[in-house]
Amino acid sequence: MRVERTIPRHVAIIMDGNGRWAKRQGLPRTFGHAKGMERVEDCVKWTKEFEIPYLTLYAFSTENWQRPKEEIENLMHLLDEFLERKVPELKENNVRLRFVGDLSPFDENRRERIREGEERTRDCSSLQLNIALNYGGRQEMLHVIKEIGKRLMNGKIDLEEVNSDTVNEYLYTSGIPDPDLIIRTAGEMRLSNFLLWQSAYSELYVTPVLWPEFEKKDYESALKEYSKRERRFGRI
Ligand code: FPP
Repeated sequence: MRVERTIPRHVAIIMDGNGRWAKRQGLPRTFGHAKGMERVEDCVKWTKEFEIPYLTLYAFSTENWQRPKEEIENLMHLLDEFLERKVPELKENNVRLRFVGDLSPFDENRRERIREGEERTRDCSSLQLNIALNYGGRQEMLHVIKEIGKRLMNGKIDLEEVNSDTVNEYLYTSGIPDPDLIIRTAGEMRLSNFLLWQSAYSELYVTPVLWPEFEKKDYESALKEYSKRERRFGRI
């Protein structure tokens, strides 16, 4: 299918339903995440094919620390594997990798590998893949408020100067355009603390398809629906 007309510049995805998928197969939840990882790889490939320049994937939220230790370890293992195996492939495919979120709770070794992945792909230009890791929209806003507060207290900026651009500067996503389209799999009608500031005018698309079963045709349906939406940004 040729996706006509309005192609979003930035697609962000809430990859939900890994656990439900595993449960339906009678498998442990970790199998769902492993299968979800395969979809991550496909999704990067499809996004490139659709010539969408920015893709953001919600891989681990600030709330996900409340999951059982074993599941968290499994997700971290998938992340490490991704960094180890996928970075050369991303580079080969001209995909730039960036992480958005508070990386401070991760150990120095993992942070170093994250930085390395970003550094090695920094000149890649066909697609920017943003992985939201230990990301929370409210936590991000608190971070912005504190950073701006520091500059106000140091006299580096005046209160009158603070505007949306100042906020954008301190967001984890600084430099990345706001998402045009947010896709959520597995049917839940909520944002779950994802890109709260950035999603002000995003189009939302929710599909009942579970993330491990998300196929190219489902992505195409989301893009088709997006191309039909009339975006008014508050205007008439
Ligand atoms: C939600 O499904 C999914 C997650 C919390 C993790 C998503 C992570 C991956 C797909 C793999 C890691 C990706 C990278 C790029 C490192 P859920 O477990 O909440 O599903 P449920 O709601 O059905 O239980």
